[in-house]
Amino acid sequence: MLIRYRKNYEKIAMGLLSFMPTEKDLKKLQQTIKQYETNDDWQLFLWKEDDDIVGIIGVLLRDPDVVEIQHISVNPSHRHQGIGKQMVKALKDMYPNHRLQGNEFTSSFFDKCEC
Ligand SMILES: CC(C)(COP(=O)(O)OP(=O)(O)OC[C@H]1O[C@@H](n2cnc3c(N)ncnc32)[C@H](O)[C@@H]1OP(=O)(O)O)[C@@H](O)C(=O)NCCC(=O)NCCS
Repeated sequence: MLIRYRKNYEKIAMGLLSFMPTEKDLKKLQQTIKQYETNDDWQLFLWKEDDDIVGIIGVLLRDPDVVEIQHISVNPSHRHQGIGKQMVKALKDMYPNHRLQGNEFTSSFFDKCEC
């Protein structure tokens, strides 16, 4: 289930975001989470499986009708179970009137999602 990021999820969110190759530097990671907390065009969601948060997906509302995936990450011990694809599908359901796209750091996975 996709749930909206809240400040009390900050630690787990930063942990998951840090698996992105672009977020290895702590300063960069802190800037990223701040953007998600303060910029209305940056929206962050967590994937809850039973009671555990195991994935994260962050988007930029780039144009009125375009949603761009900036970050997508799954806890390593939960990978290859379809969670990444489920997150993309759930995001699509959340923005039914938008076109979903990847960016240079997420499109290799996004382009594999037939959802
Ligand atoms: C990319 C990621 C979110 C996929 O999560 P997942 O829950 O394992 O994804 P799914 O189970 O839905 O799909 C798995 C398939 O995604 C594909 N895949 C995984 N990582 C990929 C990548 N970086 N680029 C393209 N395809 C990728 C593989 O084909 C894999 O198939 P397999 O299970 O047969 O090996 C996860 O590997 C991750 O967190 N990676 C680190 C963060 C990252 O690099 N994000 C940007 C990805 S472009």
